[in-house]
Amino acid sequence: MTAATARAFPNIALVKYWGKRDEELILPVAGSLSLTLDILPTTTTVSLAPEAEADRFELNGREATGESLRRVAAFLDLVRSLAGSQTPAFVRSRNEAPTGAGLASSASGFAALATAAAAAYGLDLDARGLSRLARRGSGSASRSIVPGVAVWHAGDGDETSFAEAVAAPEMHMVIVTVDAGEKPVSSRVAMRRTALTSPFAEAWPRTTEESLAEMISACEAGDFTRIGRITETHALRMHALIQSADPPIRYLTPRSVAVFDAVAELRERGVEAYATADAGPNVVVLVQSADAEAVAARMEEFGRVQIAKPGPGVELLEGDASPE
Ligand code: ADP
Ligand code: DP6
Ligand code: CO
Repeated sequence: MTAATARAFPNIALVKYWGKRDEELILPVAGSLSLTLDILPTTTTVSLAPEAEADRFELNGREATGESLRRVAAFLDLVRSLAGSQTPAFVRSRNEAPTGAGLASSASGFAALATAAAAAYGLDLDARGLSRLARRGSGSASRSIVPGVAVWHAGDGDETSFAEAVAAPEMHMVIVTVDAGEKPVSSRVAMRRTALTSPFAEAWPRTTEESLAEMISACEAGDFTRIGRITETHALRMHALIQSADPPIRYLTPRSVAVFDAVAELRERGVEAYATADAGPNVVVLVQSADAEAVAARMEEFGRVQIAKPGPGVELLEGDASPE
């Protein structure tokens, strides 16, 4: 095969990944757990280009340069080293989610790229192999290989750090896009700064592993209330940690905080809703399916609102399904 197309969906973490113990292999300081969505996918085509001098990367119809091209080329170098190839590639990708806004474009992006590139270069990988490969592009991408709720194990090295599905009750997410602009500090840079400068970074790995163990047991028990409580607490702990970096980084804006307040108010009125946010101002509300429409209606004053259900794992698309 000389070209392949794959589609992957973003995932939103209920127990967050924040920090690497190995930046080269992208091994996290702790495990994490997420829900893969059924909306806002990335579709990526990788075409081998034997005549080309270097890799090219087109994102949303625009030729990429700088850091985002460098990240894709470094990832293709890894794929080529595994495949024993030196052939450059042309990568064309489309994100339906805003890029770099805390709605997991790097997760859907590198899950789709890993799967399309593995096929184009002839690597024969199962889901675990794809998850390990996607992890090398962006840590959170390891989880977008997997449908529904996924746990990414911290592992004890490259071979054991992958994501796999875990049983969980049916949950929906209400995505509240308060600002679709690109964040000023990428997740990668912010993570590094936190580890280097926050006095609280030391407490994070242990407390996250504790939250993860509690979350997995709440998922197994089908206990939505416990799942929701852990989700909101862990998200706010992550943002507290990020804000404690020097210089500080604040991803949540007044509008994000207003969404957290509105969710707390819903709970006071007996609606089970819990808020979370990744590295960006946009807030995601975790709900049970029966409450999704009413919660979405309540959120409309804060920005664009979309309802997501548990989504599929990454898929190779047949035929000419390339973007554009
Ligand atoms: P996000 O919150 O969107 O995941 P990150 O800071 O983690 O933000 O990552 C954003 C970066 O991920 C982009 O600047 C780009 O380098 C990379 N990225 C996003 N989408 C894609 C894609 N479809 N293919 C390859 N790389 C992508
Ligand atoms: C806040 O996976 O985007 O969304 O591995 O450097 O690409 P890199 O970072 P990334 O970080 C995600 C951080 C988070 C939490 C999460 O998704 O678990
Ligand atoms: Co990301």
